[in-house]
Amino acid sequence: MLIRNRRLRTGEAIRSLVRETAITPNDFLVPLFVVEGKNVKEEIASMPNYYRYSLDLLEKEVKELWNLGLKSVLLFVKVPEKLKDNAGTEALNPDGLMQRAVKTVKNAVPEMLVMTDVALDPYSSFGHDGIVADGKILNDDSAAVLAEMSLSHAKAGADFVAPSDMMDGRIFEMRSLLEDEGFHDTGIMSYSAKFASAFYGPFRDALDSAPVDAKDIPKDKKTYQMDPANRDEAIKETLMDIQEGADIVMVKPGLCYLDIVRDIKNAVNVPVAVYQVSGEYAMIKAAAERGWLEHDAVVLEQLTAIKRAGATLIASYFAKDAVKLIY
Ligand code: PBG
Repeated sequence: MLIRNRRLRTGEAIRSLVRETAITPNDFLVPLFVVEGKNVKEEIASMPNYYRYSLDLLEKEVKELWNLGLKSVLLFVKVPEKLKDNAGTEALNPDGLMQRAVKTVKNAVPEMLVMTDVALDPYSSFGHDGIVADGKILNDDSAAVLAEMSLSHAKAGADFVAPSDMMDGRIFEMRSLLEDEGFHDTGIMSYSAKFASAFYGPFRDALDSAPVDAKDIPKDKKTYQMDPANRDEAIKETLMDIQEGADIVMVKPGLCYLDIVRDIKNAVNVPVAVYQVSGEYAMIKAAAERGWLEHDAVVLEQLTAIKRAGATLIASYFAKDAVKLIY
C-alpha cells in the first residue's frame, strides 16, 4: 500500500493542518427576537435557551454578542395582537418596535451590523407574509408594502434589509425605492431560495405568527415559498434576485438543503447565506435533553457541514454556543 489516508489523521496537529473548513465568529449572523416591555427575557417554549428580549435587555445582549466577536444581528419583532391587520400598517410606523430596536442596537454598539426582517407575517392578522384577499396572497400589493417597510427600516438606521417573504419582484421594488430615496448603501439580503418547510414551527411560536385557521385563509405558505422538491427552481429564484439587486442571497432551511447551497454557490458570485432554522435548533436541543445526542459535537458538525457546502455566512441560533466552543 503506497497511499494510506490515515497518515493525515494520526493526531490533532496534522488533522488541523489539513482541515479544509473552519468556522469562526465572522461566519455568523445572530437572529434576535424583540418584544415590547421592560426587563423582559422570555424563553421560547419550543426553543430552549433562546429568548425574546425587551429593548433594555436587547441592549445588554448585543453588547455581550459584540464582546464574543459576533458582529452582525438579524432582528425579528413580536407584534402585539391589537396592532396586527391585513395591510402591514404597523410595519411602517416610524416609531414601531422594529424601528426602535434598530436604534437601540445602533446606540448600544454602533459598529454592529444590523439587518432587519422584512415580511408581513408578524404584523398580519392572518399570519401571512402578504396581504390576503379572496383566499389568495396578493403579490404586487404586498411587494409595494415590503418596499415601504424596507425604506422605514433604512431610515431607522438598518444596514441591511432582509426580505423573508418570497413575493415575486420584491427585490426590484425594494432596491428601486431605496435608490430613489438616497439609501444607496443599504444592502439587501434576499431569502431567495426559501422553501415551504415544516422546520419553521418553533419560529412561528416565538413570534406568534403562524397562519390562522379560518375560512378562506390559506393554511400554509405553499403558494409563495418553494416546493422542497425543487432544485433547478432554487437557482432560477436566486439568479433573478441578484438581477433585481440583491447583495446577498440565502438558502433556507440549512441541513436538508445543502445540495441547493452547493448548486447556488457554484452558480453565483455573491455571498451565499444559509439559515439554520428554528426546527433544526429545536431538534438538536430535544435530542440532547434526552441524552440521545451530544449537543456541542452535533452543533459544530452541522455548522461545519453548512459552511463546507458553500455558505459564506450562517444565520444560526447556535452562534453564541459555537463561538464559545471554538475558543
Ligand atoms: C417569515 C419567516 C419565517 C422564518 C423567518 N422569517 C417563518 C415562515 O416563513 O413561516 C423562519 C425562521 C426559523 O424557523 O428559524 N417571514
